[in-house]
Amino acid sequence: MDHVKFTQMKDGDHADYAFLDRLEHQYTEGTADRLLEAMVSLDKSLSGYQVTRLGHSLQSATRAWFDGADDDWIVGALLHDIGDIFAPHNHDEYAATVLKPFVREQVTWCVQTHGDFQLIYFGKYVGANPNKRDAYKDNPYFDDCVEFCERWDQTSFDPNYPNKNLAFFAEMVRKVFARDAYHPSVIRPGYRMPLTNSGNATDRAN
Ligand SMILES: [Fe+2]
Ligand SMILES: [Fe+2]
Repeated sequence: MDHVKFTQMKDGDHADYAFLDRLEHQYTEGTADRLLEAMVSLDKSLSGYQVTRLGHSLQSATRAWFDGADDDWIVGALLHDIGDIFAPHNHDEYAATVLKPFVREQVTWCVQTHGDFQLIYFGKYVGANPNKRDAYKDNPYFDDCVEFCERWDQTSFDPNYPNKNLAFFAEMVRKVFARDAYHPSVIRPGYRMPLTNSGNATDRAN
C-alpha cells in the first residue's frame, strides 16, 4: 500500500488508518530536524537589528547554556522566536505550541508570554503598554519569564557575542523532541526549575 483507498475520511477502514498511523509516526520522528531547518530560515527574517533572528536565537540559547540551564530551557531559548516566520502577530504562542508536548510547562509558559514581557524594554517607544506583563503577576511562572527576558532574550542582539552554532544544539533539540509527548515527567505541571545552575555554568565555562 502506498496510499489509502478513501477519498473521504469517513470511508476509511482499519487498514487505511493503520497505514496512516505508521507514516505519521515516521514523520513525527523527523520533527526535530525540520525545526532545525526552519531555524535556518530565521536567518532571512526581520531585518534592521544588528543580528539576524537566527543569530538572536543562537545567542539566547548560548547564554542559557553558559548559565548552566537544563535542556528544556536551552531548547526553549533556541526556539522562542521560531514563530516569527509564519506568525508575526503571535510568534510567542506559535513557538509555545511547538514546544508544549516536549518541555516543562514552565518553559512553555515563558515562551508563550515572552512577547508581552519583552514590552517592558520598548513598549513606550511603539505605543504599547510596557507593563502588559502585569496581567500575569499572579502566575507562578511570572518571575521566571521576567528572568528569561532579562537574561536571555533582550540581551541577545549583540553582533560581537560569540554564540555557539546550530550544530552545537542539534542533538539537544533531537533529544527533547524524542521525548514521550505530554508525558507527566516531561510537563511537570507547577514545577519551577531555576534558569541558572552555577555548577553546570562552571563546568561549561571550562
Ligand atoms: Fe520574541
Ligand atoms: Fe527573542
